[in-house]
Amino acid sequence: MNPASKLMRVLVVDDDEVTAAVLEHSLIEFGYDVTVAHNGREAFQLIRSGEIRMVVSDWCMPEMSGLELCRRIRERSGGAYVYIIMLTSNSRTQDVVEGLNAGADDYITKPFQPEELQVRLRVGERVLSLESRDLTIFALAKLAESRDPDTGAHLERIREYCRIMAQELVRTGETGEDLDGDFVHMMYLTSPLHDIGKVGIPDQILLKPGALTDDETEIMRRHTVIGGETLDALVAAHPEARFLLLARDIAWTHHERYDGSGYPRGLAGRAIPLCGRIAALADVYDALTSKRVYKDAMSHEAAREVICEGRGSHFDPRVVDAFLRRDQDFHRLQRALADPPTPVAALS
Ligand code: C2E
Ligand code: SIN
Ligand code: SIN
Ligand code: FE
Repeated sequence: MNPASKLMRVLVVDDDEVTAAVLEHSLIEFGYDVTVAHNGREAFQLIRSGEIRMVVSDWCMPEMSGLELCRRIRERSGGAYVYIIMLTSNSRTQDVVEGLNAGADDYITKPFQPEELQVRLRVGERVLSLESRDLTIFALAKLAESRDPDTGAHLERIREYCRIMAQELVRTGETGEDLDGDFVHMMYLTSPLHDIGKVGIPDQILLKPGALTDDETEIMRRHTVIGGETLDALVAAHPEARFLLLARDIAWTHHERYDGSGYPRGLAGRAIPLCGRIAALADVYDALTSKRVYKDAMSHEAAREVICEGRGSHFDPRVVDAFLRRDQDFHRLQRALADPPTPVAALS
């Protein structure tokens, strides 16, 4: 069998033999691989094996109900997302709410048309493919910075900082820009890509323990152009993918400064896309509060001071104000996601 054509596996959970068989038959007809379990407990064991991404589960079953199964699946930490469709004759709204609260993604009331189930499963596949996209983006960002032992949980922090500021700017609406709720998620998703251009920077510069010479600084700064141009090419090939536009803009502009003194293009004010103005602050706050090969870490208070000094020169004043309103959240995340100090053994 061609491994690329591997079918998506769906787990059917129903204590009623006849219903289970009918479901199995329909799903095979729709082109899925099917595994059958007869109660929640059996289903949960199968899910833990990790091969299952979609579940169609009955509500009332002996041993472990569908509801309990949902809860158990959602309680697991780690593992890929499992998409759950509940199949129920409990059509009372109350039950539906309870099912969704327990972590079900969708529900179908019995009796149902097979076509309806097929459509719902397609929706599930679409959701799962978006999750794969998100994980891929983050894995590529991690790979791009894997040569730099200094950066630790840098990307995890950056995306959280960006999310906080984006939320704050969307909430207050004071940027005057047209931002939708998706903007917050898109910032979270794409900000880890800001430095992917560093793959093009040689080790002796990227990892240099001291200050950079002018020539080295020049080369270091090219990471914005390398990343930006790489993503430009992707944007051109996929104009429909909005997250690529954002990733591209962030890669190009996260070292621009509000007063026009940044690089690589010396853009000023609103000529710098908002995502770049947000990523700039996140990047600097993280650099200041982290240890680097070339410098020590600063306290949250000292970093806040530096950022306030850069209000209107380095940073967009509105972005600084958003930071200041949420600075305790920054501080909390900075501690929660701090990198452990370099062990002495690693230095010898
Ligand atoms: P990075 O270390 O992640 O720093 C990101 C940005 O944070 C810097 O951009 C700068 O705007 C700000 N920043 C970092 N440390 C300080 C600080 O002590 N004080 C202040 N006020 N701001 C700070 P920048 O300067 O364009 O640097 C971009 C990247 O170039 C840095 O990312 C780092 O990877 C590298 N780099 C910069 N300076 C040096 C250096 O002296 N030695 C080495 N080895 N690398 C450097
Ligand atoms: C991840 O990389 O952990 C998923 C990304 C997301 O949830 O947006
Ligand atoms: C996320 O958690 O993946 C996105 C951030 C959000 O929409 O708040
Ligand atoms: Fe950078």
